Amino acid sequence: MTDYKRTLITSALPYANGPVHIGHLAGVYVPADIYARFLRLNGEEVAFIGGSDEHGVPITLKAKNEGVTPQDVVDKYHAIIKDSFARFGISFDVYSRTSAKVHHETASEFFRKLYDNGKFIEKSSEQYYDEENNQFLADRYITGTCPKCGFERAYGDQCESCGTSLSPTELINPKSMISGNSPVLKETKHWYLPLDQYEEWLKEWILEGHKEWKSNVYGQCKSWIDSGLQPRAVTRDLEWGVPVPVDGADGKVLYVWFDAPIGYISATKELTPEWEKWWKDPETKMVHFIGKDNIVFHCIIFPAMLKAEGSYILPDNVPANEFLNLEGDKISTSRNWAVWLHEYLDEFPGKEDVLKYVLTANAPETKDNDFTWKDFQARNNNELVAILGNFVNRALVLTNKYYDGKIPAPGELNDNDRTTLAEIANLKAEVEKSIRQYRFREALKLAMDLARLGNKYLTDEEPWKVVKTDPERVKTSMYVCAQITANLTIMLEPFLPFSMEKLRGFLNLGKLPWSELGRTDLLPAGHQVNTPELLFEKIEDEVIEKQVNKLLETKRANEAANAKVTPAKDNISYDEFSKMDIRTGTVLEAELVPKTKKLMKLKIDTGIDKRTVVSGIAEYFKPEDVVGRQVCILVNLEPKPLKGIESQGMILMAQDADGSLKFVTPTTPVKNGSEVK
Ligand code: 2FM
Ligand code: ZN
Repeated sequence: MTDYKRTLITSALPYANGPVHIGHLAGVYVPADIYARFLRLNGEEVAFIGGSDEHGVPITLKAKNEGVTPQDVVDKYHAIIKDSFARFGISFDVYSRTSAKVHHETASEFFRKLYDNGKFIEKSSEQYYDEENNQFLADRYITGTCPKCGFERAYGDQCESCGTSLSPTELINPKSMISGNSPVLKETKHWYLPLDQYEEWLKEWILEGHKEWKSNVYGQCKSWIDSGLQPRAVTRDLEWGVPVPVDGADGKVLYVWFDAPIGYISATKELTPEWEKWWKDPETKMVHFIGKDNIVFHCIIFPAMLKAEGSYILPDNVPANEFLNLEGDKISTSRNWAVWLHEYLDEFPGKEDVLKYVLTANAPETKDNDFTWKDFQARNNNELVAILGNFVNRALVLTNKYYDGKIPAPGELNDNDRTTLAEIANLKAEVEKSIRQYRFREALKLAMDLARLGNKYLTDEEPWKVVKTDPERVKTSMYVCAQITANLTIMLEPFLPFSMEKLRGFLNLGKLPWSELGRTDLLPAGHQVNTPELLFEKIEDEVIEKQVNKLLETKRANEAANAKVTPAKDNISYDEFSKMDIRTGTVLEAELVPKTKKLMKLKIDTGIDKRTVVSGIAEYFKPEDVVGRQVCILVNLEPKPLKGIESQGMILMAQDADGSLKFVTPTTPVKNGSEVK
C-alpha cells in the first residue's frame, strides 16, 4: 500500500436538470461526506470536490420542453442543489459547476492536449439526423425499442429498463425526441478515444492491481474489459456543451461524459491555486464516490483519458454503491418517485442527521436496498432516540441531579469500569478500519455500539438504586458515563455532525480530534456540564402517514397519466348530434339523496326553467361546493325517477383516469340557457 500524504475525494457531479434525492445521497454524498469528515477529524489533508454536471442532452430537452434556455435550466437546479447540500451539511470544500469558465477552459485544454498528441482517432460515420429540425440526434435525442429486452422507450445511449448501453443505430424503430419523426442517416465526423489501445493497461491496472476494489466495481470492470473495449466517440453534434476546440468542428461539443469528470479538476482549480498537488502528485490518494451506473466512466474511460494525458494521478479506489429504491420501487425523477432533499429539509427541520443516519444504516453498499418511511421512523425511534438519545440523556440528567452538573471525582475503578472504558479504544480501531475500507454501514453500527455499551453499563450499575446505599460508588459510575458520552462526540462526529455539535454544547466541550478518542479523562472531575435537551425526538405515526400519503398521491397521478384513453365510439350523423339540447345552467340548491352514496339532488336554473336533476356526483363533491356553480345540462333527456325523485336532465361531467368526476363548465360565465353546440 502506498503511503499517501493527502486525499482527494470526488463525488459524482449531479445533473443540473432536477433536484437531488435520497438515492443520490445514499449512493454518493453521504458516504463521501462521512469519509471526508473522518479524515479531517483525523488531522489529514483533504479536498472534497463537488459540483453540478450542466451539460448533456436531458438538459437541452428539458429546456426545449419548458421553452427556456439550457442555461436557465442549469441555473435553476444548480442553485437548488447547492443550497440543499449546504443545508444538509455535505461538507464540500468546493461546489462548482461545469458551465463555469474555468471548466470550459480546463476541458478544452485537456481535449486539445490529447488531440495535439495524436491520442484520438478521427472517424466519419452515418448518424441519425432529424430533417425537420436540421439536427443530429445524439444519445437521448433519440428513442426506440431496445434490441435486448424489447422496452419501447429505450434511449440512444442506454436502455433504462435492462441497463444495456446502446448506440442509436442499434435501436429498433428509432424516433426523434424533438419531432417524433423517423430520422435519416447522415454522415458526420467525430473524435474517438481508442479504448482498445488501453485494454492491456487497464487489465494490468485494475484486474491485477486493484483486486481490493469492491466486488461490484471490480466485477463490472472485468466484464467490460473481458468483452473487449471499442473506440468511443468523445464529441457530439450539439449546441450545448464545451465546443470542440479544433478547426472544422463547428456545431460540435465535447461528449458530456468527456467533460464531466474533468469537472473534478476544474473544481479543484476553483478551490486552490495549488490544484496540481492534488492531481499530479503521486502522494495524493484520489477516491471517486459514485453510483453503480457511473462505474464504467470512472474506472475505464476517465482513467484512460488521464493516462492518455499523461501528467495526472489515477484513482486509488472507486467505492461505488448500488441503488436505493423507495418503498419497493425504483427512484425516478421523471415519475416524481423520490424523496427530494430540499423538500425533506423543509418538512423535517433539524432532522438532517436522522436522514444521514437512516441512509447510512441502510446504505446500498453491496446490493440494492429499499428506503421506507416505516424504517425511517423505526430507526429514529428505536435507535437514535432509544439507544443514543436515551443514554446521553440519562447520563446527563443524573449528573445534573446528583452533582449539579459537575463531573464527580471517581473512586477506584472496578472490572466493569475498566473493561467498559477499554472497549472505547477497541471500537475506535474497528470503526476506523471499516471507514478506511469504505464500509460505512458497518462503521456506523460499530460507532453506535459505544452508545449501546453506555446503556448496558447503566443497566449493570443501576446508579439510581446504588445512590441510596453507596453514593461513593455512583461517583465512579457517573464519571465513566461522562467519559463514554464525551467519546461519543468524537466517534459519531463523521456520521452525525449536527447532533454531535449539539451534544458538545450539552457537555460544554470543544470539538476534539479523532486521536483523542479512547481517552478516559476527556471530562475531568469538576468539569461543569449543562442541563441537556433531547438529542433526538420521537417521530409520530401521523408524520410518517403524511409522507406515505404523499407517495400514494404520486402513484395515483402516475397511473392516471399512464392510463389508456377509451377508444372512440362509432360515428354518428350531425342530425343525431343536434337532437341533443345542451344548455348552460346554474346550480341553485344541492342536497344529498338519503340512503345513497353517490346521488345528489340539484335544483338547476336552466334559463328555460328551474328544474330538479339527480346526479351521481356525491362521492366527489359536497353540496356546498356545487351551489352557485355553472354547469352544462342536457335538458331534453327523458325524465326518469331515481330513488323516488324525478330527474329532469343530465349534468355533463368529465371522468378522469382515476374515475373521479370533474364538471364541464364554460371557462367564463355565460347566460343561463345558452346553447352548447
Ligand atoms: O450520473 C450522473 O448523474 C452524472 N451527472 C455523473 C457525472 S460524474 C462526473 F463524471 F462528473
Ligand atoms: Zn433493454
